[in-house]
Amino acid sequence: MTSSRTNPEGRPGASESAGSPAWELLLPAASAPARTRGRSLQAALREAVRSGRLVPGTRLPSSRDLAADLGVSRGLVTEAYEQLTAEGYLRSGRGAGTWVGGAVRAAHPRARDLAPRTPGSRADFVAGTPDLSLFPRTAWATAHRGVLAELPHQDLGYPDPRGLPRLRAALAELLARRRGVVADPERIVVVSGVAQATTLLGFALHAHGLPTVGVEDPGSPQHDALYAAAGVTTVAVPLDEDGVSLGPLRESGVRAVVTTPSHQFPTGIAYSARRRAELLDWARSVDGFVLEDDYDGDFRYDRAPVGALQGLDPDRVAYAGSVSKSLAPGLRLGWLLVPEALADEVVERKRTMDLGHPTIDQALFARFVERGDYDRQLRRCQRAYRERRDALVSALDEHLPGTEVSGIAAGLHVIATLPPRYGPQERFLARLATAGVTVRPLTDYAHARAEPDEKQGVRLVLGYAHLPATRIRDGVRLMAEAARD
Ligand SMILES: Cc1ncc(COP(=O)(O)O)c(C=O)c1O
Repeated sequence: MTSSRTNPEGRPGASESAGSPAWELLLPAASAPARTRGRSLQAALREAVRSGRLVPGTRLPSSRDLAADLGVSRGLVTEAYEQLTAEGYLRSGRGAGTWVGGAVRAAHPRARDLAPRTPGSRADFVAGTPDLSLFPRTAWATAHRGVLAELPHQDLGYPDPRGLPRLRAALAELLARRRGVVADPERIVVVSGVAQATTLLGFALHAHGLPTVGVEDPGSPQHDALYAAAGVTTVAVPLDEDGVSLGPLRESGVRAVVTTPSHQFPTGIAYSARRRAELLDWARSVDGFVLEDDYDGDFRYDRAPVGALQGLDPDRVAYAGSVSKSLAPGLRLGWLLVPEALADEVVERKRTMDLGHPTIDQALFARFVERGDYDRQLRRCQRAYRERRDALVSALDEHLPGTEVSGIAAGLHVIATLPPRYGPQERFLARLATAGVTVRPLTDYAHARAEPDEKQGVRLVLGYAHLPATRIRDGVRLMAEAARD
């Protein structure tokens, strides 16, 4: 057995143990017949390392914790750790725990460990995707079986275009409790994500005589096209340190504005209490609406959760959210809380668009929420993402000293402002691209083409949630090497 006081990163605390996908992977082995359980557990652990699902350096939970999580005896886990350590898959050291060794080459690295958007990239920090390997497959499969057993035949017919009453009730409870929204199930529409909520609202605003909406600048690149599909034109409104700027908003003449007040995308600022109140006063004064995109509102790390703006005035604020950051974007499942004045148009549009959301998915998610599985998933992601954020911040500090990091209290990405010596931006980005590091500068999210302010330094939007901590550290190291060349 190899002995060492720290794991290979020299950072006993920086591990992927919290929320790692692998423990779930071990559950089927843990429920194997008692006679073969030990061997099954070893085989599953071996396969997780071989396949690359557990990357070198990943620290394993203590045998006591893993045994408790899996519901098996501690002796079985200890035996598995010892066996795999002897085989070279794992390493361990007195007081340093057990971690995945570096001797094994994954035969086929699992795509789910990689950011999927840039094949061939050595490190992909593009923001927007959660860690898809944290998807709770076992709990989802259990909920699916449960739903198929219990779903009344009539729920397999065309649904209410607003969604199944059971899911709307579950969402009302969840959103009131977690996000402080005023959640009347009658005003909830189940949608296929914030994207569909945006298009539906676009149609409703147009019908209401509001053919233009303000959008945050910088902001989400999706909004222009989504609103255009509903015949609505967007007008860029700049931000200041409190949120969307009121002066330019008033001057623009729009009567509706899209905002991300909990964690502005992409700058990461949280709208101040003053700006929230001003924004609502503005909406009342123009008889208009604020559209609240709460795309990552469930992820808070260092500060008390900021309640949703919608809770302050549900007749002026339309609130949209989805499971895209907490479970998986591929589920295409979200919700829209719609002000009364826009409700009929939104529901009618939803009906004509797709005759309602798939009912089995709705019932499944309702069950998932009702039984506490969704809260568990959020806690698990929160733990994993906080660790990854810490890994990113400390790697930037170590390898790119002088970098200022902001927007770190929440969400799945940060803004890193590099000292001006790393500029100019174009040259820096070209070097990163050559080194196989994929990043987006903040200027990419500006509404009109924005020239970087070279005196301010290069500003990068760095997504971290989809990357294990070891990859984050390797990626930042690559970045620093490319910057030096
Ligand atoms: C700010 C923002 N809003 C909305 C969306 C779309 O989310 P959904 O998958 O719920 O349609 C995204 C997607 O990444 C986003 O970044």
